[in-house]
Amino acid sequence: MKIAIIGSGGREHSLALTISKSSIVNEIFCISGNAGTSEIATNVQLDINKFDKVLKFINDNSVDLVVVGPEQPLVSGIVDYLEKFNIKVFGPNKIASQLEGSKIFTKKLCQEYNIPTANFGIFENKIDAKKFLDNAKYPNVIKADNLAAGKGVYICNNKQESFMAVEEIFDGKFGEAKNILIEQFLKGEEMSYFIISDGITIKSFETAQDHKRVLEGDNGKNTGGMGAYSPSRLINNDLEDKILSKIIKPTLKGLSNLGTEYKGFLYAGLMIVENEPYLIEYNVRMGDPECQTILPKLKTDLVKILEACCNKKLANVNIEWTNKKSLCVVLCSKGYPDTYQKNILINNLENFTQDENNFIFHAGTKKENNKIYATGGRVLNFVSLSDNFLQARDEVHQCIKKLDWYGGFHRRDIGFKVID
Ligand code: AMP
Ligand code: GLY
Repeated sequence: MKIAIIGSGGREHSLALTISKSSIVNEIFCISGNAGTSEIATNVQLDINKFDKVLKFINDNSVDLVVVGPEQPLVSGIVDYLEKFNIKVFGPNKIASQLEGSKIFTKKLCQEYNIPTANFGIFENKIDAKKFLDNAKYPNVIKADNLAAGKGVYICNNKQESFMAVEEIFDGKFGEAKNILIEQFLKGEEMSYFIISDGITIKSFETAQDHKRVLEGDNGKNTGGMGAYSPSRLINNDLEDKILSKIIKPTLKGLSNLGTEYKGFLYAGLMIVENEPYLIEYNVRMGDPECQTILPKLKTDLVKILEACCNKKLANVNIEWTNKKSLCVVLCSKGYPDTYQKNILINNLENFTQDENNFIFHAGTKKENNKIYATGGRVLNFVSLSDNFLQARDEVHQCIKKLDWYGGFHRRDIGFKVID
């Protein structure tokens, strides 16, 4: 089979590597990929938001299956577009992608189907929002409705902070804002729960916990993710039953009542409060860096799983995992998530050999004249699998030390809740 992967981050490199191990794949294209994917696939420089160009490439190259990594093209309807031309695509359609594309869509679904989530209000202008905030309880959470690459969320400790959030969102910091969401603050521990679905059958696709803040101890600014580990320490059979029956299944029923179905990965961002799950947000894709952390544990041929999903045959596939613990540390450019330098040489990468327990996934990198340069804020993902999290983290740290890249920094405390 020929597979095309849409996206260019660490998630897509881990998808490409896992797909390259499939017994039924003979060619992989990454649109547009990075230096890491160029070792195992053909990188194709195309704008993934220009669906007609993507379609032409897929047809010209007789691609059998398209796998979409990031949320933006899903929310913009790439699946609907390609399926109109009879292309097989793994990912949810435009209506289902509203689960990530509009926080208000998801909140209304929660309300209608009694899905546990933080209490909330929707406000259409600054005056009404501030009137409410005058007498609100603190802390509370203020969110932009639309996609904001993880940045449109403010945890506000007082009136002054919340007024600033309202101003920034309505002034267009995250794009045009017709509404904002004000939410009750939930106190608990977060967990990411993943499923894969073909529209009929759903199967669990592991759990993880990421670290979004830039500084150790989960402090500082929000980022795309500084590291992750899998599985989450919180998961147990009772909790999993509740997540499925109270959150995932009612959500899919809600979509079905809207006349659509869910095909793809679905990522539920949960707050667990005394073994009870609350939905914080949905993402309509794998997480990044959760994907890099989870896929190395997969024992079943990924392409057979993805193909079964596109053929509505997921029920026939048994998804198997190793029991090992997996931990990922993200190496970032100094300055991230604020300004950082681009095109910084990484000169040591050739010296690394990867094996079944140790992986380096590229994110913001490019290859030029056989040299590798950092081009993004998140640059490399180091992942190790081991019998315990401490050993996995030690192995990752040894690799990062060996790389000795002067342009980078990383958090040394990834997984502290399961290690320290
Ligand atoms: P989101 O983009 O909705 O996942 O929010 C980003 C982060 O803000 C989450 O990972 C949580 O750490 C935090 N957060 C969002 N909503 C709430 C809430 N209602 N209560 C507590 N923390 C929240
Ligand atoms: N790691 C968070 C995300 O992928 O949204």
